[in-house]
Amino acid sequence: MAATKSPVVDIHTHVYPPSYIELLKSRDKIPYIRSFPPSSALRLVILPAEDTESTSRGRPVGAEYYDISKKVEFMDRHSIDISVISLANPWLDWVPAADAAEAARGINDEVNEECGKYPGRLFAFATLPLSGGKNVIEKEISRLKSLKHMRGIILGTTGLGKGLDDPDLLPIFRALQDAKLPIFLHPHYGLPSSVWGERANDYGHVLPLALGFPMETTIAITRMILAGVFEKVPELEMILAHSGGTLPFLAGRIESCIEHDAHLKAEGKLGKGRKTVWEILKKNIYLDAVVYSEVGLNAAIQASGKDRIMFGTDHPFFPPLEGENETWASVETNYEAIFGSLGSGTEESLAALGGNAVRVLNLVV
Ligand code: URA
Ligand code: ZN
Repeated sequence: MAATKSPVVDIHTHVYPPSYIELLKSRDKIPYIRSFPPSSALRLVILPAEDTESTSRGRPVGAEYYDISKKVEFMDRHSIDISVISLANPWLDWVPAADAAEAARGINDEVNEECGKYPGRLFAFATLPLSGGKNVIEKEISRLKSLKHMRGIILGTTGLGKGLDDPDLLPIFRALQDAKLPIFLHPHYGLPSSVWGERANDYGHVLPLALGFPMETTIAITRMILAGVFEKVPELEMILAHSGGTLPFLAGRIESCIEHDAHLKAEGKLGKGRKTVWEILKKNIYLDAVVYSEVGLNAAIQASGKDRIMFGTDHPFFPPLEGENETWASVETNYEAIFGSLGSGTEESLAALGGNAVRVLNLVV
């Protein structure tokens, strides 16, 4: 595809590189890949709530999950010029500590190489060896500078095992800030399955994906805000998946609860120097546009600003249930929300479609 002045950039698009697929095939606990006889088709089971009959044991896993040429075909079919690919959940969260360093190096090198096969079209968010401990993580962050196509890192919500408000993560956040590597924050674990009730099995994947994922992201970022991470690491940049979960909609309520909290006041946490939720949204946070409606997108734009929104697809998740070779409704809905909210061909919509990502992630070869 010819380079245009204003490229369309997909910043939320996943891969499981072949070596990761092999790792999953060697396992029988979540996350894993296997067939369920009598069918010989392989299925990917990754979410805590989907190892059940009713969720059909995960999802079918085809070449679109691991073959990079399929990613590029998908991009061409949907007029996407550039993709910033990321390992999909649950990343390396589950890898034994002793294997973490090597696993991260291998995956990051492999993803970087795949980007190199399509110069100018593919960049990536790297994966951190979280279970390996602080030194191993910092070493990998420092190594990422030598990988030509890396533009940030993808991170789940567990951090070192205690969530993202863990003070032990501050050196990691500082290292990312100093290396100018934004964090793409992405959910995986959802909410405890007890909140979905006794009939959850009747509802497929809807409750954990539609509600569990966004709440998980909202809780993780709110805990970071409450822990003062953005005062302590003032230039840290975070790109939040799914338009920040529910953060744009709840920002006013979160801010009001903070301002009215006697405990925070007694601890001296409400004084000068505190960044409000609104300030953090406009200084440290970017939001993807993977929210599938104008209503949600308008909230994201109002909360964070037109210059902080970035188009995404979540490919290869949410494929059409039939007619595989057509354009994907999950992608078209996100395009339509951008055109509806910001107009078609306007400076603002071109920025949301790609200009913001090119600027923030420096997407030039
Ligand atoms: N989208 C993702 O990124 N991961 C999932 O597990 C499901 C949807
Ligand atoms: Zn995703």
